[in-house]
Amino acid sequence: MGNTVVIANDHGAVHTKNELTAHLIARGYQVTNLGVDDPTSVDYPDMAAAACTEFFKGDYAFGIVCCGTGIGISIAANKIEGIRCALPQNIFAARMAKEHNNVNFLAFGGRIDYPESITAMLDAYMDAEFQGGRHADRVQKIMDLEG
Ligand code: RB5
Repeated sequence: MGNTVVIANDHGAVHTKNELTAHLIARGYQVTNLGVDDPTSVDYPDMAAAACTEFFKGDYAFGIVCCGTGIGISIAANKIEGIRCALPQNIFAARMAKEHNNVNFLAFGGRIDYPESITAMLDAYMDAEFQGGRHADRVQKIMDLEG
């Protein structure tokens, strides 16, 4: 696993993308930014597709997608084969997204008032370890649903 993260966002989450990117760089990661950097309206499924396609091309640690709520772009990301994208609501859920679900993408909402900082949520995910065992069996059952 590399030390680069791919990130994409729509117009509803430019500041969120920037905050997460700055945090990743401070932690020593490189970031491939495929999102918009101004308020120009774009379609979040296109942003999800760009990030997820790029994820499988490179040696990425994981990916991040952001839109106004995080809902639409996480739904879109999860339509792409091989992607498991979580939309954590707090630090605990972000940690569980790695420990139990071993997700390869996180989603955040730029227009959501989170109870804890999104950088702390990102840290919780990055600092956690997948627990394997029964959770690996369950993750495999998720992937088997792709058919
Ligand atoms: C865009 O207006 C908005 O719908 C999008 O950012 C996201 O919230 C969709 O789920």
